[in-house]
Amino acid sequence: MTPIGIMSAMHEELAAVLQALSVERRVHVAGRDFWHGHWHGRPVVAVLSRIGKVAAATTATALIERFGVDQLVFTGVAGGLGPGLKVGDVVLARSFVQHDMDASPLFPRHEVPLYGRSHFETDAGLSDALQRAAQDVLADVAPHVGSEAVAEFALQSPRLHEGLIASGDRFVSTTFERRNLQQILPEALAVEMEGAAVAQVCADYGLPFAALRTISDRADDDAHADFSRFIKHVASRYSVAMLSQWLKKP
Ligand code: ADE
Repeated sequence: MTPIGIMSAMHEELAAVLQALSVERRVHVAGRDFWHGHWHGRPVVAVLSRIGKVAAATTATALIERFGVDQLVFTGVAGGLGPGLKVGDVVLARSFVQHDMDASPLFPRHEVPLYGRSHFETDAGLSDALQRAAQDVLADVAPHVGSEAVAEFALQSPRLHEGLIASGDRFVSTTFERRNLQQILPEALAVEMEGAAVAQVCADYGLPFAALRTISDRADDDAHADFSRFIKHVASRYSVAMLSQWLKKP
């Protein structure tokens, strides 16, 4: 069986995935550790992409070229931009755009030069399967994160949202920048720093790609508050639960 590639950008998240995985082998390539194992009987290669579009593109390319993965899933956190998105909600990406891509006036703003488009869609079948898994987990998060985290992070009735995610090489941490992004990309639900790069690499190779992001902040002046604690106690638990729920289905 061909392995599934699983990428995370943060240490805490990968650590949680590695605990769930029965790891058989670690291979060091391009400065990264690629962890081979099985999860619910499915072969998996898990890796820390590191942060930003270039690091994510390098990692995705290595997963494809060196480890022969036939599909790729990214889990992580994102800043919420859309109306009604709150910390603890989850966004399933249906498409990606690079909010900092701008080769105008040679090409329209956000268009990736020589690709003729700005948006890269995720795989519908893979995303639908992850959507079902995410909905199952969000229906009752307490068993996954514990009641203390539910109280600390006010995880009341977390919701799943689906749509556009904007990626760029900037942690968005001012209300000024949040408003600017909302203005230039009004349909973007969330902002992060890797997804659009992986989506482009997967489009280049014709490989299915899907991404689930837990909203860790509102991409505003408070964006840094309790970021690590949130990833450790909430986002990483969500990711493991959702991936496990997805992988255990035949
Ligand atoms: N990932 C999580 N929160 C983010 C933010 N505010 N900006 C960019 N990437 C993020």
